[in-house]
Amino acid sequence: MPGSRVGTTDMTRWWQSGTIYQVYPRSFQDSDGDGIGDLEGIRQRLGHLVALGVDAVWVSPFYPSPMADFGYDVADYCGVDPMFGTLEDFDGLIADAHGQGLKVVLDFVPNHTSERHPWFAESRAGRGSAKRDWYIWRDPASGGGPPNNWASNFGGSAWEYDEASGQYYYHAFLKEQPDLNWRNPQVRAAMNDVLRFWLERGVDGFRVDVIWHLMKDAGFRDNPDNPGFAEGQPDIARVLPVHSADQPEVFDVIAEMRATIEAYGDRVLIGEIYLPLERLVAYYGHDLSGVHLPFNFQLILSAWNARGLAELIETYERALPDGGWPNWVLGNHDQHRVASRIGAAQARVAAMLLLTLRGTPTIYYGDEIGMTDGEIAPEAVQDPWEKNEPGLGLGRDPERTPMHWTAADDAGFTTGTPWLPVGPAHEANVADQTGDPRSMLALHRRLLALRRAHEALSLGSFESVAATGDVLAYRRRRGGETFLIVLNLGHEPVAVDGLGQHRAILSTHLDREEARPAATIALRPDEGLILVP
Ligand code: GLC
Ligand code: MG
Repeated sequence: MPGSRVGTTDMTRWWQSGTIYQVYPRSFQDSDGDGIGDLEGIRQRLGHLVALGVDAVWVSPFYPSPMADFGYDVADYCGVDPMFGTLEDFDGLIADAHGQGLKVVLDFVPNHTSERHPWFAESRAGRGSAKRDWYIWRDPASGGGPPNNWASNFGGSAWEYDEASGQYYYHAFLKEQPDLNWRNPQVRAAMNDVLRFWLERGVDGFRVDVIWHLMKDAGFRDNPDNPGFAEGQPDIARVLPVHSADQPEVFDVIAEMRATIEAYGDRVLIGEIYLPLERLVAYYGHDLSGVHLPFNFQLILSAWNARGLAELIETYERALPDGGWPNWVLGNHDQHRVASRIGAAQARVAAMLLLTLRGTPTIYYGDEIGMTDGEIAPEAVQDPWEKNEPGLGLGRDPERTPMHWTAADDAGFTTGTPWLPVGPAHEANVADQTGDPRSMLALHRRLLALRRAHEALSLGSFESVAATGDVLAYRRRRGGETFLIVLNLGHEPVAVDGLGQHRAILSTHLDREEARPAATIALRPDEGLILVP
């Protein structure tokens, strides 16, 4: 029901107990030999997701697009780019996914369109165009030049001059991605219709791209300089985005989207939000009228040490509004892979953390087999951000390389030439790890099966446990069940006493299951344990 308070108290939703898996469609499975993954490829690989034990698949954009930002520049919100297939392929994918018990979440990109979207073509046609106000056009500053100092997230000014009309248009990302004007009611109506188009086709929800960007300061005031800016940081860090994003008016827009999807019953609205915790939780909205899940990227952004993470988890838990459901993300298509950030051994500990914390987990494709960042030679670079600001390590190609299905040179991804180089698939791939009971894949399957079998792990309460040094420990409890999770974030063995008698039922090393409880919990280097009393 639109506007109703759907929290955690009245009933449990699939997106609370379930786990989300992100597919970057270009890189998951190519079915037609063009070197680019496609919808039919995803359909063929649904069995992998079922065997893994996740509940929902979020598919990054596959809409018609000139691919300036690899699909995050949408030229038609209600279609499928021929490179990825057809609408019929999409219908087949969703039918098969549902048939196998998987939910399907789409990527909704409302902040900007492609410059090739017909709406922008019309808007650009002249100052008098009926769609002029669908985008953000401003006169030059009084002395000439861009209307204000707002910067593009991909470097340089966020304003592009249009010779013909003598005005600038605003683009928070590439100049090929003009921002829509969400203050215009026609834009809002048209975009809510887009949501309905896909809801009618049966999608189970949306991940909304850069949702905190939708509203900008009505007066377009300059952003203040960032006193903390240092060389080596991206250009966008020169100014603080005080006026260009996270404006109070955005919550009306989100409440409207929320009402649109609630009219279709049990669907989920997820927001991509890179903001400090205290601002992030504001996106649950007044009376929980915001997104169901404001994506929490803190595990990606924080330093990997036990004390810091313990504090982070507690701060997050305390900051959640009443009835707001937590969530945790370990990787995505914009961030270096977890196995590259913290190493292979700690990536296993991170998997145990992600899948035993309170809140919906999101797994990035390939992380379940421990894929690392790919090496991208300068001439192979695809990402426009890396092209705009080379050499700072900003490029996102490394985490977007093709999925490793087999040990073959093409990783079983394509029979053609892959759009990004295939990494060392013999080191980590689904086929080999399926047959290896100690593999990263086996660990993910065990963790997900355990989480599914015990509500204490998915829906149960979270209690932190005081621990010292490199140890992070907490309990999950529900009904009569209690789990103790003890994670060694260090590379030395460590013994934990004083938590009572426990026996381990799962180790990240997958070689330990104890029959008898003991008072001392002995952790090996880089080991995580799930224990029961
Ligand atoms: C989001 C996407 C990213 C994209 C940007 C602009 O951050 O995750 O990949 O480049 O929005 O749409
Ligand atoms: Mg293809």
